[in-house]
Amino acid sequence: MQLAQRLDGIGEYYFSQKLREIDQLNKEGKNIINLGIGSPDLPPHPDVIKTLQEESAKTNVHAYQPYKGSPVLRNAISEWYKKWYLVDLNPDTEILPLIGSKEGIMHICMTYFEKGFSVLVPNPGYPTYLSAVKLSGANPVYYKLKEKNNYEPDFGELKEIIEAHKSSGQGTIGLFVNYPQMPTGQLPTRDLFEKLVAFARKNNILIIHDNPYSFILNDNPMSMLSVDGAKDCVIELNSLSKSHNMAGWRVGMLCGSKERIDEVLRFKSNMDSGMFLPVQLAAAKALSLGKEWHNEVNSVYRKRREKVFQLLEVLNCTFSRDQAGLFVWAKIPGKFKDCYDCSDYVLHNFSVFITPGGIFGSEGDKYVRVSLCMAEEKIEQAKQRIVPT
Ligand SMILES: Cc1ncc(COP(=O)(O)O)c(C=O)c1O
Repeated sequence: MQLAQRLDGIGEYYFSQKLREIDQLNKEGKNIINLGIGSPDLPPHPDVIKTLQEESAKTNVHAYQPYKGSPVLRNAISEWYKKWYLVDLNPDTEILPLIGSKEGIMHICMTYFEKGFSVLVPNPGYPTYLSAVKLSGANPVYYKLKEKNNYEPDFGELKEIIEAHKSSGQGTIGLFVNYPQMPTGQLPTRDLFEKLVAFARKNNILIIHDNPYSFILNDNPMSMLSVDGAKDCVIELNSLSKSHNMAGWRVGMLCGSKERIDEVLRFKSNMDSGMFLPVQLAAAKALSLGKEWHNEVNSVYRKRREKVFQLLEVLNCTFSRDQAGLFVWAKIPGKFKDCYDCSDYVLHNFSVFITPGGIFGSEGDKYVRVSLCMAEEKIEQAKQRIVPT
């Protein structure tokens, strides 16, 4: 069958291939400890599950839902943004519930980007930004995030890229950013957010800020929409996948000005319908949880992170202890050619899988990423298996 040209250069997702290899090794009796994937293993709060159970038992909740989501969920999102991020969002016009942040990335690309235009994506960064821009027909252009710059964009480099593309007739119309950053765990500063908003206004660029990690190992969740004037040029994506242990539920949100929401809805309403109402009501319940919930979840991740630090020390990796999100990002020792060499060495010698940083872009070639989504005992077991190199 002839494939559409838009799939040129879009391969199978790295993890889907790697999981097959790990499966095969497990069939051979290897019992691999997989510290690769960032899917929270802990359950949502019991009240969230209870809400889903009770609501789904009702007879009047099974119909199609409004394209813009249930008002109950939109109100809960609005209150959540106010309470944690000090951002005012009109629940009727400035919020669009999503089936996870990932689908929002695609919808935004299909709404705004097309052939003949460039879109800036972080290197290293979440691989979906690159593939979604490619699928839209636009030209994804990597900008570098370097450890020596605290993984903040170099605005001089951004400017150069924009100028270079302009002179070849290609306007730059979008910029993906994500803080706390995945995979590096870098936290944002207010100063960075202000600079980004000023840059977007000056260069007439749409910023897509992807913000799913702000509650994980971070006491100060921040939204880019809290910067004055941000709604003019920023769309923010957020998600319950990590903050509320609901990755499989597929609940996220897109926040921005009424104009942006209406524009994206024009695309999205042709793709799907509102989510199952009991899922939306349970998500609203999750968003009403207080600080105790986040403290409880984070105390588990904090203990796991200590174990991961120890494991990385056995491997002679270097890393910052001040990282947020579900992973630890670490520089590999010089004895390895690159991150793939290091990851394969650990997999084949010690039956532990850690993610090579290069899958997030070439700037990750000398790094690995270790997930915290694994029981502390398993991380300890992984550490015991690794013989110092
Ligand atoms: C940076 C980043 N953005 C978005 C997502 C997708 O999140 P969701 O489950 O809300 O689609 C992930 C998932 O791993 C991620 O790491």
